Amino acid sequence: MDKKRKRLIRIGAGAVAGLGAVALAWTGIAANADEPADAKGDFEAKVIGGEPAEEGQYPWLVALGYTGEGTPFERQFCGGSVITETVVITAAHCAEAVAGPDEVVVFSGSVDLESDDLVETAVADIHIAHDYNEPIDRANDWALLLLDEPVDVEPIDVGTEPEEFDALETAGWGETGSGSASVAEWVEVPFVSDDDCEAAYPDEIDAATMLCAGDLENGGVDSCQGDSGGPIMAPGEDGQILVGIVSWGYGCAEAGNPGVYAEVADFNSAIDDVLEDWS
Ligand code: ARG
Repeated sequence: MDKKRKRLIRIGAGAVAGLGAVALAWTGIAANADEPADAKGDFEAKVIGGEPAEEGQYPWLVALGYTGEGTPFERQFCGGSVITETVVITAAHCAEAVAGPDEVVVFSGSVDLESDDLVETAVADIHIAHDYNEPIDRANDWALLLLDEPVDVEPIDVGTEPEEFDALETAGWGETGSGSASVAEWVEVPFVSDDDCEAAYPDEIDAATMLCAGDLENGGVDSCQGDSGGPIMAPGEDGQILVGIVSWGYGCAEAGNPGVYAEVADFNSAIDDVLEDWS
């Protein structure tokens, strides 16, 4: 599968998930993500404004790929986070991009999709949030993947919500537009309050299940297409904790248009229920 096909699938998946507007906006992103609006050219960065992650920086960070031919880099279409040795959390709209568990694999064990340490694991079952797209489009954008066999990486804690969100980090292998590097990028993104986010996206924010982050004034730092499903994290008492899942945004890293994330603390108990079912 080449990059072009991957892109088409991604847009298709977005439309299915009710992300038509977002997907359309994407065609305009390449020119203005991290450069002045009149500048032409591809993204330099993946996660916008970030830098390559070190091995071991986010051991739980995984890539979702399509089953089949091609390198992991070519097959990658979303991100995810390992929350138990056999369960990965991702976005519902990522899980909906495949017809079933046979069509998706998980790549773990390295930030570099070309690394020999990368492990490919098959998926046995998929749970998509029952209330995905309720009460409004893109609300409850989370899903769980049950792995065929355990992965040997440190899981991230989804237990509690930190009191302060000032040092959020997000990471992933999102769209570059140039398709060269294979190493995940990470970036620090300022927390955006529910009020500010609702002002940025009137009638599109379900504050109960969405969390926003980005530099509202200047833009420049954000997740982007292909990072979906991956983590946004905050320091907890005992290492980093998962506070959100990359979900959507208008463009990427634009001033006034923050990134929107599924707010994990709001569906903690629903996650626990599925974990119990699967244990
Ligand atoms: N929906 C995108 C995906 O499927 C993620 C977009 C995130 N956008 C943003 N501006 N933070 O990969």
